[in-house]
Amino acid sequence: MKTQAEQVIHSPTRNNGPSVHTIDPNMNAVIFGATGMVGAGVLVECLDDPRIKSVLVIGRNSCSVTHPKLRELLHQDLFDYSDIRDDLRNLDACFFCLGTSSVGKSEADYRRITFDLTIAAANSLINLNPSLTFCYVSGEGTDRTEQGRIMWARVKGRTENRVLDMAESAYVFRPGYIQPFKGVRSRFRAYRLMHSVLDPFYPLLNRILPKHVTTTENIGRAMIEVALEGYSNTILENRDINSFAAAT
Ligand SMILES: NC(=O)c1ccc[n+]([C@@H]2O[C@H](COP(=O)([O-])OP(=O)(O)OC[C@H]3O[C@@H](n4cnc5c(N)ncnc54)[C@H](OP(=O)(O)O)[C@@H]3O)[C@@H](O)[C@H]2O)c1
Repeated sequence: MKTQAEQVIHSPTRNNGPSVHTIDPNMNAVIFGATGMVGAGVLVECLDDPRIKSVLVIGRNSCSVTHPKLRELLHQDLFDYSDIRDDLRNLDACFFCLGTSSVGKSEADYRRITFDLTIAAANSLINLNPSLTFCYVSGEGTDRTEQGRIMWARVKGRTENRVLDMAESAYVFRPGYIQPFKGVRSRFRAYRLMHSVLDPFYPLLNRILPKHVTTTENIGRAMIEVALEGYSNTILENRDINSFAAAT
């Protein structure tokens, strides 16, 4: 288990901290949440990146993408992986983009998807692939004290804490506003409208609010780099995600 001090090192540099590792650039990656906006963006980057040899997508619904290096596994019970253990071997990185909104949900219901499901998947993957890098998509403003007043932030914070504790190589990505790029679209009409209105202004948004905005492309590129090269900070805020992606 990692200590708290090992988990959070606020240095923007790469290759300089405790989580540094370099893996063979023939990476086998698995993505959860590829039918969603963030996961679809990460999938695009993985399919485009020649350093990624294969991409396994796991979800309850099809992502409707076909590609020579993509394999999709439809699995209804994402809390239990006992019957697909053999499919989960030989993986180098997991990009965990599955998540749900807390709006209209009780804490117990939100925790079941956000915490229980994430930890069930991480547990199975890490047991089968002890050196796997687990990248968890969280969100800006999470609460790692797990004691605050905002329910979603507490639950996400608890999930971050557990993920960082479980894996030798784990990273938390905390995007704020995310602009979808490369044809990726939100499933929600209101978000699609907002994204299309803000699309021409994204460069301006990025200039005036660099700590609060990012793109699906930047998240995907930053995740791949972190999985391949490591990073000195296990928690990546928007500025980390954007600077990482900008440098590649
Ligand atoms: N979008 C943003 O602006 C934003 C900003 C900051 C952080 N985030 C975080 O990023 C993550 C992904 O967000 P997103 O915008 O990509 O969400 P999204 O478009 O709603 O996609 C959610 C993904 O999670 C899966 N999922 C949700 N509930 C599930 C369940 N009960 N069982 C199995 N799969 C389930 C969905 O699969 P199905 O297709 O099967 O439903 C889908 O693949 C979330 O954790 C979110 O909090 C998003």
